Amino acid sequence: MTGDEARFTLTRIGHAADASQQMIADVCAGLTAEHKSLPSIYFYDDHGSALFEEITRLPEYYLARAEAQILEMYANDIIAAVHPDELVEIGAGYARKTQLLLAAIHEREAGNVYVAIDVSESALRHAGENLTEMYPWLEVRGYVGDFGSDLASVQREGRRLVAFLGSTIGNLPLDQRPSFFDSVASMLEGDDGFLLGIDLMKDESILIAAYSDSAGVSSAFNKNVLTVLNRELDGDFDLDAFDHVTQLNATTGCMEQSLRANRHVSARLETIDLKITMEAGESIHTEWSCKFTREQITEELANAGLSVTDWWSDAENRYALVLARRASFAPA
Ligand code: TRP
Repeated sequence: MTGDEARFTLTRIGHAADASQQMIADVCAGLTAEHKSLPSIYFYDDHGSALFEEITRLPEYYLARAEAQILEMYANDIIAAVHPDELVEIGAGYARKTQLLLAAIHEREAGNVYVAIDVSESALRHAGENLTEMYPWLEVRGYVGDFGSDLASVQREGRRLVAFLGSTIGNLPLDQRPSFFDSVASMLEGDDGFLLGIDLMKDESILIAAYSDSAGVSSAFNKNVLTVLNRELDGDFDLDAFDHVTQLNATTGCMEQSLRANRHVSARLETIDLKITMEAGESIHTEWSCKFTREQITEELANAGLSVTDWWSDAENRYALVLARRASFAPA
């Protein structure tokens, strides 16, 4: 009998630069551009992660609940459709929702391997410890890397179910989506499955409420990126000088979150010797959360050689889990 430790391994993939060097490069590029922006990964320090947890419990933020509802109802059907030897999750985080899939995998006597890929080593350790303890039959392989990392280098154990949940696909810059789907396709062989969580396009007022709740948690979450910069780069951004703004871009179908200066801003990031001045009304773009229609996602996946074979949505049709396979193997 091997200990829990032997059932959890951690590997680094890709060529992830030193994290603080990466942040410096990202912040310099983003804040000196004509249209200022900051990558949304910097929301998620410990405080930001806690605020996002709080967002997922807000009455207005239906996304997480709708996805959990679908998994609760259909995890068995999903696993039966693929019967995977391994579950590979991209952007696993703390892997909470994953438990519903793992339970179904065990019940259906599919595989015993869970491969978790995430940028956060601490989240992977947490998930690895938790899951090996909860499921004595499970092997957890953690891979530290981002979506751009070499996904093809993840070791294969047999028939795969690759999962990308949380509608995180909607947070990728639009122009990165095709190559992301291409690299997912390159992870699949034979009748492997790709399970994708997507938030569906809906009435604008529902979307606006989801991203600017009445309790102000979305605003605190958005502004937290400035707290992160102040701490990591010795900055002096005044959070009160910014308003949380969210709007639907009707052309792209994306909710766009930004921080808009409500007066003239003059700030400094000491560590990188960068001075930032902004006029009242000028914005820093912080996140896209793109919404999808069935037709659109079917077409985007088809462009990567993937066919949609199954579709599950919640009772109110707000959110969907899409199962796709390599087009050459999909049943007609
Ligand atoms: N990834 C989350 C989403 O796209 C992030 C998010 C939720 C967010 N609420 C927000 C980002 C408010 C900025 C502001 O749904």
